Amino acid sequence: MEEFDENFLSARIRNTEEEISEYSLRPQTISEYIGQTKAKENLKVYIEAAKKREETLDHVLLYGPPGLGKTTLANIISNEMNSNIKVTSGPAIDKPGDLAAILANLNDNDILFIDEIHRINKSVEEILYPALEDFSIDIMIGKGPSAKSIRLDLPKFTLVGATTRAGSISTPLRDRFGIILKLELYTDKELKTIIERSANILNIEIEPEAAMELARRSRGTPRIANRLLKRVRDYAIILGDGKITLNIANLALDKLEIDKLGLDNTDRKILETIIHKYKGRAVGIEALAATINEEVETIEDVYEPYLLQIGFIARTPRGRIVTPEGYKHLGLDTYEGF
Ligand SMILES: Nc1ncnc2c1ncn2[C@@H]1O[C@H](COP(=O)(O)OP(=O)(O)OP(=O)(O)O)[C@@H](O)[C@H]1O
Ligand SMILES: [Mg+2]
Repeated sequence: MEEFDENFLSARIRNTEEEISEYSLRPQTISEYIGQTKAKENLKVYIEAAKKREETLDHVLLYGPPGLGKTTLANIISNEMNSNIKVTSGPAIDKPGDLAAILANLNDNDILFIDEIHRINKSVEEILYPALEDFSIDIMIGKGPSAKSIRLDLPKFTLVGATTRAGSISTPLRDRFGIILKLELYTDKELKTIIERSANILNIEIEPEAAMELARRSRGTPRIANRLLKRVRDYAIILGDGKITLNIANLALDKLEIDKLGLDNTDRKILETIIHKYKGRAVGIEALAATINEEVETIEDVYEPYLLQIGFIARTPRGRIVTPEGYKHLGLDTYEGF
């Protein structure tokens, strides 16, 4: 069995430059974590109670669209519980033996963070059931008729699972999480606070009006807010003295082809495809994905949540449609016979 190499696994998860710079912008404690009031309040109670009882925290499932702060929250949980965190991801665990090795290497009170837990394969998932429920696993020793199964006790740990698609998690797995937290898209006001906090950390000067403009165009997502902040800063350095004014923010965002509501080219392509190619009729997600050359998962996880939230598309039993508000935003009349 291969040794569980923490560094290798976490390197696999965050090796891009963006992920590294994301690290410095990540809040470390619940009180630094902006928004998500409901999830935060609940979590605070569970953490306090677990600490008072001197027990480990129940297993936690975090779900919501990408970039809303699931990984951040997993790290905060480990900080608040004063526990070590080990990080891996569903697709990184190939075989049941890999997971057994990870579990056997945990210590009491550790947090095991499994990102993209919906992508864990079935044979690996089955090892998780007894591990989560009884803190033990059964492993097979030997082969053929002399093979026997022995039970291995595990330390008391907390699994924190993150997923963009709660619907893809099997019921037996979901049922083993005592705490399930849904992350919601952030309000403009919350995003403005996040942008101002990030600007402060990165030593960027930004006018409050400019921060609000960035917030409005961040589609409810802190990761996008931070990304826009950095891109707009580049324009501010080239076009001005480095300070992000409302003027510079508007100019830069237009150059980045991000419209007043934060829609980018792909969002517009989704809306326009339904309107023009399908003449306003309901479109199935597969057909839509094929037409615009995107993955179904990307449309469902990345684009749809915001388009649904702002009411530009609607789901019907026959597929997706663009709403009259969506037409209006593109400057189009509602399709005849809509
Ligand atoms: N509540 C918050 N307050 C301040 N910043 C936040 C908050 N949530 C997220 N961020 C910022 O957004 C970035 C993205 O968050 P994070 O990586 O935790 O998202 P995620 O939900 O794990 O995304 P993915 O589904 O793609 O893994 C972080 O670097 C962090 O700086
Ligand atoms: Mg993450």
